[in-house]
Amino acid sequence: MNKPETFPADLDRLEVGYDIPAKPGMAEDEIQTPALVIDLDALERNLKKMQDIADRMGVRLRVHGKMHKSVDVAKRQIELGACGICCQKVSEAEAFARGGIKDILVSNQVRDPLKIDRLAQMPKMGVRTIVCCDDIDNVAELDEAAKRHGTELEVLVEVDCGAGRCGVTSVEDAVAIAKAIDAAGNLTFSGIQGYQGAMQHLETWQARKEAAEKAIAIVREVVEALKAEGLGCEIVGGGGTGSFEFEGTSGVYNELQCGSYAFMDADYGRILDKDGKRIDESQFEHALFLLTSVMSHAKPDKAVVDAGLKAQSVDSGLPTVFGIEGVTYIKCSDEHGVIEDPEGKLAINQRIKLVPGHIDPTCNVHDWYVGVRGGEVEALWPVSARGKAF
Ligand SMILES: Cc1ncc(COP(=O)(O)O)c(C=O)c1O
Repeated sequence: MNKPETFPADLDRLEVGYDIPAKPGMAEDEIQTPALVIDLDALERNLKKMQDIADRMGVRLRVHGKMHKSVDVAKRQIELGACGICCQKVSEAEAFARGGIKDILVSNQVRDPLKIDRLAQMPKMGVRTIVCCDDIDNVAELDEAAKRHGTELEVLVEVDCGAGRCGVTSVEDAVAIAKAIDAAGNLTFSGIQGYQGAMQHLETWQARKEAAEKAIAIVREVVEALKAEGLGCEIVGGGGTGSFEFEGTSGVYNELQCGSYAFMDADYGRILDKDGKRIDESQFEHALFLLTSVMSHAKPDKAVVDAGLKAQSVDSGLPTVFGIEGVTYIKCSDEHGVIEDPEGKLAINQRIKLVPGHIDPTCNVHDWYVGVRGGEVEALWPVSARGKAF
């Protein structure tokens, strides 16, 4: 068995069906549902594939940990060559740091004084700590906290390259903030982040390419303006599962921040590659499933399963049924999911693999990942940063 470092020491004393959904060695069919199940072979193929792509493009891969929130998955990504991770919240960063991850970018703004204070202490845990900034006032806040704790923070200027979220919208602002960071005693200016989230799920490759070209042009202009001021960018980061090939070959970006590729959800699976093929058929496999079981088939054409709203997020669409033709997950309420089964294929207690519509918020409502290989449970990994949204 692949024993993770975060594996609870007293696991053997825990009763199955009490607090954990499965124990290593159990058959896949015995897993207590609903549970998040990782197909370990598919996960390993996805991780290797993306790392190989980044290596071929000559860019670093800084995987986004907000998707899986798992120290165990992050460690495997780093073992394969990722330079570190991104996460979105200080509490998430702390969970990864406690688990032994040593290079963490909080790819977000941190403004609350207590959060800044916690962030500034992370280097004491032996962690290279990087954060984004889009406001000159934030530079002094970060520097003051780092000084107080005798630490060093690395800071990226976040540039809005089309997503309309955080980030400066002018070259002048980017340069002014970068200069302020550079002048601050306990901060290092490490470069820029330009993540264009709004283009990631555009259906066609051409639409994503056009949006990416606009984003890259904005980022290139900022990088050149900084260079003219003598400020080099060690990191130019961005890119996601829907766009990495554009940033990765731009000659401007040197770090990719992809997250979803590792597990792949139904919403991402639908987008098309250059040849018009769904990316879950051509690029990355579904490796994460919400395992559910049939608990009622009182109506001949409908199976009711135990994975409803409390086990998943349906903001990006309902889950799809994996590997069984002719059945469709059509609706859910808190504890129930209804699967249309016109041919009566499904039986009571049958395990069904659902591909979640949106993985990030789905993973966040579970305590455990059950890793399976060849029909057997091989690993039980905690969702280390579950609920760490602060
Ligand atoms: C800052 C940032 N970088 C990268 C990503 C890429 O993630 P994914 O590959 O899951 O699209 C995200 C996702 O929301 C993000 O917020």
